[in-house]
Amino acid sequence: MMVFDFMRLEDVDTKGKTVFLRVDVNSPLDPNSKKILDATRIRAIEDTLKSLKDAKVVFGAHQSRPGKYDFTSLETHSRVLQMYHNGKVKYVDDIDGTKAQKEIKELEVGEILVLNNLRMHKDENIDASPEELAKTSMIQNLAPYFDLCVNDAFPAAHRAQASLVAFGELMPMIAGRLMEKELSALNKVIYKPNRPCVYLLGGAKVDDRIPVIKRVLKDNIADSILIGGLIRESFHMAQGMMKERYLSLKDEEKKLVDEAGEILNKYDGAIELPVDVALDVKGERVELMVDAITDESNIYDIGLNTIAHFSERIKNAGTVVAEGPLGMFERRGFDIGTKELLRAMADSLAYTVVGGGHMGGMASMLGIDERMKHVSTGGGAMLSLLSGEDLPVIDAMAKAKKRWG
Ligand code: 3PG
Repeated sequence: MMVFDFMRLEDVDTKGKTVFLRVDVNSPLDPNSKKILDATRIRAIEDTLKSLKDAKVVFGAHQSRPGKYDFTSLETHSRVLQMYHNGKVKYVDDIDGTKAQKEIKELEVGEILVLNNLRMHKDENIDASPEELAKTSMIQNLAPYFDLCVNDAFPAAHRAQASLVAFGELMPMIAGRLMEKELSALNKVIYKPNRPCVYLLGGAKVDDRIPVIKRVLKDNIADSILIGGLIRESFHMAQGMMKERYLSLKDEEKKLVDEAGEILNKYDGAIELPVDVALDVKGERVELMVDAITDESNIYDIGLNTIAHFSERIKNAGTVVAEGPLGMFERRGFDIGTKELLRAMADSLAYTVVGGGHMGGMASMLGIDERMKHVSTGGGAMLSLLSGEDLPVIDAMAKAKKRWG
């Protein structure tokens, strides 16, 4: 078992204190209305908020990344939070400026002040060590107002951004309840997973997934990896499919395809790709074997033969770790792969772990989340942890304990 050495809420007195609470409420948003489609991550921090009911809470979080359609303010998130804490939640359209500072000073015990999307601040997007990040203006402007920092942002634990790692340089940084719960549940699958250990990977973050796939295969953590979602495309391109589309990719995307090819060569048989896919043809789902894929194919899901094969692999597994939807589940008719494989997991006797906002949200929508051994709020963070990577947030909390504990 990995020993996570950090301070917990039991170790500190938060009564009357002003606490910077870093959470991860990055949520799927409706592309048009920008409404929150799934509030699981907001609900998941309730235990921590309950533990901080005698404190003044300054709530810091991000939503998406600059340049993306869902990169929005946190006002909507604060309204959802208000539903659970009626009258106790305020929102300020500022991060570290005079408006935010005034609101923090006026905060009363039991209140929660939501700051704007931290990634709207230039300092949150700087790549540097925690020591350097502690000197940035965002951290310097905010730190004097806080007695301590509670870090409950497990889904962002693999990111080394200022608000996630730098406050521990200046004040005690303590793990929140969600952080603790996630780490203790995932610890069970880190070193000795029941065999065979099957990873089911989908989603669109190919750049995040390729290093994870390499690590879990190199270190013998996973016995096989079932691939769907957009990452499937990189592997199929590496096999020579969709040549025109490959040529139109940016250099960094081509590099990922090359890496996918190296993985296929090195770990022959461990990667299982879909044998068929589902296309959108004039709004209808049409099944197609992969050897018939062309550059024009609009692929939105894995096919029915693949679903049957992957379900069988899940049924016979000792451990199943799933992250990222297998298809574009938001579109009617293209959610079948994601739903059926989650159902196969719910029926399996394996130690089942579901990660990432989309998969967790879908499992709860299907009413089968309770039948999983663990539903993690983390996607990339969960995979990084399971593949043995050091997570910057965990390192920063350990360092804070040495300094302040
Ligand atoms: C997530 O949703 O996985 C986390 O919030 C991290 O988001 P990021 O990949 O944009 O850093």
